[in-house]
Amino acid sequence: MTKANNHSRKVSDPLITFDQENRVFHLHNQYISYLLAIDEGGIMSHLYFGRAVRHYHGQRQSPRLDRGFSGNLPGTTDRTYSLDSLLREYSGQGDGDFRTPALIVRQADGSRSVFLTYQSYQIIAGKPRLKGLPAAYVKDDEEAQTLIITLVDQLTSLEVALTYTIYRDRKVIARSVKIKNAGQTTVHLEKAASLQIDFHNRTLDVISLPGAHVNERHEQREKVGFGSKVFSSSRGTTSHQMNSFIALCEPKTDEFHGEVYGFNFVYSGNHKESVERDQFKQTRLTVGINDDQFDWQLGPDESFQTPEVLLAYSDHGLNDLSQTYHHLLRERVSRGKNQFRQRPIVINNWEATFFDFNELKLKKIVDEAKNVGIEMFVLDDGWFGHRDNDDSSLGDWRVFKKKFPHGLKKFSDYVHQQGMKMGIWFEPEMISYDSDLYRQHPDYMLRVPDREPTPSRDQYVLDMGRQAVRDNLFNQMKQVLKDADIDYVKWDMNRHITDVYSSVLPPQQQGETLHRYVLGLYELLERLTSEFPDILWEGCSGGGGRIDAGMMYYMPQSWTSDNTDAIARLTIQYGTSLAYPISSMTAHVSESPNQQTGRATPLQTRADVAMSGVFGYELDLTKMSAAEKAAIAKQVATYKAIRPIIQFGDFIRLINPSQGNRCAWLFVTADKSEAVVFSFQVLSSAQPAFNVLKLAGLNGNWDYQNIATGKVIGGDELMNTGFYETIDKFDFSSHMYHFKAVSD
Ligand code: DGJ
Repeated sequence: MTKANNHSRKVSDPLITFDQENRVFHLHNQYISYLLAIDEGGIMSHLYFGRAVRHYHGQRQSPRLDRGFSGNLPGTTDRTYSLDSLLREYSGQGDGDFRTPALIVRQADGSRSVFLTYQSYQIIAGKPRLKGLPAAYVKDDEEAQTLIITLVDQLTSLEVALTYTIYRDRKVIARSVKIKNAGQTTVHLEKAASLQIDFHNRTLDVISLPGAHVNERHEQREKVGFGSKVFSSSRGTTSHQMNSFIALCEPKTDEFHGEVYGFNFVYSGNHKESVERDQFKQTRLTVGINDDQFDWQLGPDESFQTPEVLLAYSDHGLNDLSQTYHHLLRERVSRGKNQFRQRPIVINNWEATFFDFNELKLKKIVDEAKNVGIEMFVLDDGWFGHRDNDDSSLGDWRVFKKKFPHGLKKFSDYVHQQGMKMGIWFEPEMISYDSDLYRQHPDYMLRVPDREPTPSRDQYVLDMGRQAVRDNLFNQMKQVLKDADIDYVKWDMNRHITDVYSSVLPPQQQGETLHRYVLGLYELLERLTSEFPDILWEGCSGGGGRIDAGMMYYMPQSWTSDNTDAIARLTIQYGTSLAYPISSMTAHVSESPNQQTGRATPLQTRADVAMSGVFGYELDLTKMSAAEKAAIAKQVATYKAIRPIIQFGDFIRLINPSQGNRCAWLFVTADKSEAVVFSFQVLSSAQPAFNVLKLAGLNGNWDYQNIATGKVIGGDELMNTGFYETIDKFDFSSHMYHFKAVSD
């Protein structure tokens, strides 16, 4: 019989139970069950994750079979039990399991073997915080329970604590791992995944979010075939190229039906998601820090905490999975005063002026913005050092006197006097050769000794793992934010990380540089956001290069893409919404033809796409006609009226733009009393099809009034029969429908 060590206080209404006799752990709530067992030889086996079961009666015990070339437990003669075929919770290397390992340890003797067996378990109320790392949290210990299972490698005394938190009212389990060296010799972690999950023989699709700069997060879906497929970033950040979200689903799963498992990594650096279908048609997924360029030295008594992965499950399709993430990230990952505050409508000067501005020019834009009802001015790149283009001054966060002869405060005061808020751009993690910071501290940047570093946008990367670097940035930024009375910060990062070498780490610890970078970034963000709790922080990395659940812990919103073209944005915003809430996606109306694609689109379509996110403008209002400005004033007023539904309602994808000529989505309040629908047609046609639009998420027993036409229609009718949309004989058209429930 297994004894529970370190049992903490009892919690009512358990979400986690341990069946002592069968040695099975069951994490469950009304929606989901997760089952794992202490199998023969103390091996942790995975039994099940999916729709809830009330009680487990042992039906998923792994069958035994003598299979060729699949070895057996060391010291035993039972040929029917093999770690090579067992569904497992966390695998090392060298134990006879030839599938993708979650953990690779270079032992002091040079071997890479670990053999992990069960040691103890602990069930605690609530959810412990992860020191130095972002993570989902609880506000009350009753919201969740946490199971910690400790495995041990008897030979080396390496302890691996697998942590599982199940929320009471969410279809979510958070998983992470803490690895402790309880032995006498130093070892090196070459891979430490946050999660491994094995699925029994079933056909699965994998959904990922690949992309590129100005082309982020396109939903990609493919069949999981034999062999391994890796989705990853080794660019030092989450990256535009491959987001850190992944999902596995049934082939028949669509937006509204079918089973889907989501995995959202709460981390902002290199990541790796490996999907492997093995010889027995079982699928293994591992998610964690990318082991490429990772090597962590773990001395005696030292521990390594992995970031966490948020697992979500739905048997109602992709929309339901996304809504689970939207609620979780908004309610239990984002923090701070702006978490639930309505976000202001901004005007950002980047695409209006680029570096070519001064106080006078900006004031004119501010005046125009005020007249149309815009609520915040954001001063983008070029206000500091002597920055007239992108080859200088990063690191010198002092106002550029040529552009602001009266100082930043004077300008900020002007913005405030117009009744608007004042935002400002920083790119804290970077350094230009042409900067005082570089002249004074050349060692602050990441750089391999004696090698010429790789420039990108003429800039280099600071060693964020260093306390001195962070202190310098904190002090400089604090000064600006305080002195100029800033309400919002856009935190940009405009290159990926090369020359991974820290001047303060010894050779045997250089493999820690990138993770230390991310930990340092988090520490600086924690310091700044705590020091300035009223500031609204927005993440950005050349658009959406670092959109992830980790950044959302510090900054509730992010610039979705440097591509502001409305039609390109349809696919980008659609894909992003798979994993991230609308309140986190900023979207701006820019000029037409668009600067990134050259495409000309109607102002209304640009507004409807941008209004489907956290809304703003990014164009020179002083160059717009009176009619355009009147239209903008109307759009601003419309957005103010629908803003709570857009930013904090439920979002439902209706038509996928990557599957045809149309796109549609809707926003609905939690009580279903109000909905806003947007639909878009890409290209016009001489012989157009008659398209029916069917809504979702309404109450079928209620009637709804179309606010524009006054017409009253049943919720069931809107969802089941749908309605024909008007035919637009021009490209790139859009429609917005606003429905409110009417009482009889
Ligand atoms: C990239 C951002 O995504 C843009 O919006 C802008 O801030 C530029 N950087 C400024 O350099």
